[in-house]
Amino acid sequence: MSKTNSFSLHFETDWKYADAPESRDHIDLKEQYELFINGQFQKCSSAKYFDSINPANETFLAKIAEANREDIDQAVKSAKSALAQWQKLQAKERAKYIFRIARLIQERAREFSVIETLDGGKPIKESRDIDIPLAAAHFFYYAGWADKLEYAFPGKSVKPIGVVAQIIPWNFPLLMAAWKIAPAIACGNTVVLKPAETTSLTALKLAELIQDAGLPPGVVNIVTGAGETGAELVNHPDIDKIAFTGSTEVGKLIQKSVAGRNVKTTLELGGKAANIIFKDAPIEQAVEGIINGIFFNQGHVCCAGSRLFIEESIEKEVLEKLKWRLETLSVGDPMDKNTDIGAINSKQQLDTIKKYIKIAKEEGLKGFESNQSIPKKGFYCKPTIFTGVSQSSRLAQEEIFGPVLVVQTFRTIDEVIEKANNTPYGLSAGVWTDKGSKAFNLSSRLKAGVVWANTFNKFDPTSPFGGFKESGFGREGGLQGLDAYLKMD
Ligand code: NAI
Ligand code: MG
Repeated sequence: MSKTNSFSLHFETDWKYADAPESRDHIDLKEQYELFINGQFQKCSSAKYFDSINPANETFLAKIAEANREDIDQAVKSAKSALAQWQKLQAKERAKYIFRIARLIQERAREFSVIETLDGGKPIKESRDIDIPLAAAHFFYYAGWADKLEYAFPGKSVKPIGVVAQIIPWNFPLLMAAWKIAPAIACGNTVVLKPAETTSLTALKLAELIQDAGLPPGVVNIVTGAGETGAELVNHPDIDKIAFTGSTEVGKLIQKSVAGRNVKTTLELGGKAANIIFKDAPIEQAVEGIINGIFFNQGHVCCAGSRLFIEESIEKEVLEKLKWRLETLSVGDPMDKNTDIGAINSKQQLDTIKKYIKIAKEEGLKGFESNQSIPKKGFYCKPTIFTGVSQSSRLAQEEIFGPVLVVQTFRTIDEVIEKANNTPYGLSAGVWTDKGSKAFNLSSRLKAGVVWANTFNKFDPTSPFGGFKESGFGREGGLQGLDAYLKMD
């Protein structure tokens, strides 16, 4: 801990890709990772390990421990026994640890960015400029709340819930760990977190950093493994709260397993967001917003603008501009700072996306994809757009979670609101218009947790995020994000 004095959140400029390492040889990556329990790395009792690979070229990165019931039990016990000591600390002392974690993430931002990109396939410019700075920002933000909780909910007495089980997905690995851990420990809870099986490495790096920050042992435990490990954690009798981000399918399983148990639950699940563009919109800006809305992070985004609604009279103009813009996107090596669309996170996810492209062809949908060539090794998908899609098409109803956009048109506001709301999901939406009144009208009538106006995919620790319907319930981020980790009288 030599340099812990930088508080600046605007540190992107300190970081030059020009000297970023291009392979694991230049970063501190171990061959094998163990479980982080009670402040120490320890071997898993199954002695089973699985490989994490780089989806951009299918090369091996590291072996990851697979936690079983016994390991989960140890992790939960460690979190439980750390509760008393963690809660006895003055809130301002707890805050100091969280600030320290935030600063250490900033200091090691370059290494985190490279590992995030190698392990998950996202473009380095996104890890560098979005994921890692935002992860630090979440720790800063919730560190600030730690000693002010009584002001967050005036007139109520607030208490931590206890042991929190957190399960996160592979699309924003470090960022989702930050969304979950920062508010939980700021409120005085202790944590057992399980990262996704294809992207455990930055969470394990975070465990090393947590050791360096001197966080009392057991306050944060990080256990690795796939769905079975996650289910063991969910079913453990001593957890008091579950926070899950992932598929709607697993979200439903979790809800069943907590039925009748005194376990507070928040679920952040899938989405099928409408991105609505009116004829009075600033078209060039809207086209950028559409591109960013669906192709950011290869479309592996729960709030991705995956359904585009264009007002009929500007359909031709918008589609022409979109086609042109599609050709300018660079698809390929995620470690290249100019790459816009990196690798699909796993072979399994690539197969899912290909399945939907096949369904589109069977449904007779017209579409276009960019003409660039893509690398032969690794998992890649060209950005693809289907036009003239009907409301009943599976492509308009189901989450694809890849770089595939479906386009529909509309004539009236009522029509577009009805179509936009006609899905099982309700996570996010976007509106592009020159008229403030229209933006306000739509944002109150769209059944979505977040509605962006003349922008898309903008995140900030101060704003709450979460869904309606099959997109889940509970909010993360902002003051509302504290509510999920507190008991109130
Ligand atoms: P998933 O929901 O299976 O995985 C998310 C996390 O849940 C991972 O850490 C996984 O190990 C864990 N998990 C899996 N089964 C579990 C169980 N029974 N109990 C507890 N934890 C469990 O998602 P998957 O299979 O990786 O992706 C499938 C689809 O889910 C994607 O195509 C996408 O549509 C959607 N998805 C949505 C995400 C979101 O941000 N809302 C994130 C990831 C996937
Ligand atoms: Mg990986």
